[in-house]
Amino acid sequence: MYQLICVVGARPNFMKIAPIVEAIKNETKSICVKLVHTGQHYDANMKHQFFVQLGIPEPDIDLGVGSGSHAVQTAEVMQRFEPVLDEHQADAVLVVGDVNSTIACALVASKKHIPVIHVEAGLRSYDRAMPEEINRVLTDQIADLLYTTERNAQANLMREGVAPERIRFVGNVMIDTLKKHVRQATPAADTLANIAGGAAIVSAGQKFALLTMHRPSNVDDEQTLRGLIETVVQASERLPIVFPVHPRTQARMEQFGLQKLISEANIVTTGPLGYMELLGLMSKATLVLTDSGGIQEETTALGVPCITLRENTERPITVEQGTNTIVGANSALILQTLDEVLAKGGKQGRQPELWDGQAAVRIAKDLEQWFEKVYMPSP
Ligand code: UD1
Repeated sequence: MYQLICVVGARPNFMKIAPIVEAIKNETKSICVKLVHTGQHYDANMKHQFFVQLGIPEPDIDLGVGSGSHAVQTAEVMQRFEPVLDEHQADAVLVVGDVNSTIACALVASKKHIPVIHVEAGLRSYDRAMPEEINRVLTDQIADLLYTTERNAQANLMREGVAPERIRFVGNVMIDTLKKHVRQATPAADTLANIAGGAAIVSAGQKFALLTMHRPSNVDDEQTLRGLIETVVQASERLPIVFPVHPRTQARMEQFGLQKLISEANIVTTGPLGYMELLGLMSKATLVLTDSGGIQEETTALGVPCITLRENTERPITVEQGTNTIVGANSALILQTLDEVLAKGGKQGRQPELWDGQAAVRIAKDLEQWFEKVYMPSP
């Protein structure tokens, strides 16, 4: 059996790894998965709920790393991950996405000459101020096998000198998870009923917008965050806004004294939600305001208009073919785009190629062949 170590660390990794682990179990005979959780995200509502809701097996190894500066967090993952590779005699390490755990584990494996597999490779915002962009570029440079979600990614990788035979366009594993669960998602009305102020939206039969925001570039600088919150307050005069608040954003709002602005507006807040709750809200929202990477893709898959509070995106297909509009942190542009969506219904969009719920199955089948080739005994 080939020993494959699969790594998860932070919330956006969980919905990507779930279908991969399942497909390897169902579709392959020769691959044995060991799941490592680095512990980058550790709160129950940032981790545990996702494992339960997505049916991810309990991690075989929990590194318990926790929060810290980028250097501390990355270094801590690396130190704790290295002995795991020795102990489990890994034949390959599979990482997903672009969080600190992704690059940390990829780097450890590659220095030990263990092949690295990167799922969601080749996405580029071309904005090096974004920590995830550094993680993406570096992980792709040291990966041996790169699975991509959209065709643009292949061209990005080839520009950076990645050999085309290492790249496979397989589609989007996060959309596999969405397609599998969307029908069982928690009804938006049930989630709203559990949020202070949410029941009123349900009883009035009102439309609502969903807001998520956690990028350091939006929330760490006081002026930027204040501007965004003031804009959102104005937007909430058009329709109620539901705002599950990421811990980073919560801390900054408290630090900058922005709580009052929110509490006096037509905005209901809650802590981070589980996957099924967020999916239910997203599906029923009139529009979504976000700076998340994954939500840009999920709204495209759901056909819900998305207004992205960033200057750029590493997922251009969501703009070219999907429902996404990039507006940055410019207040006038945000409100103008929102008004257009409310007046005309927003971009219709279509399903990008291979976002069909089968990406993980394609990966599992391809991986089995790849292992055979890489580890074939020499004649
Ligand atoms: C990380 C990812 C980002 C992803 C996001 C999703 C990197 C570089 N960034 O950013 O790409 O979009 O996760 O959530 O890897 N905290 C808790 N509980 C937790 C985890 C974090 O309270 O379970 C708090 C800590 O105070 C921490 C802060 O949130 O300092 C930020 O967490 P961290 O993992 O450093 O980065 P994210 O901003 O979550």
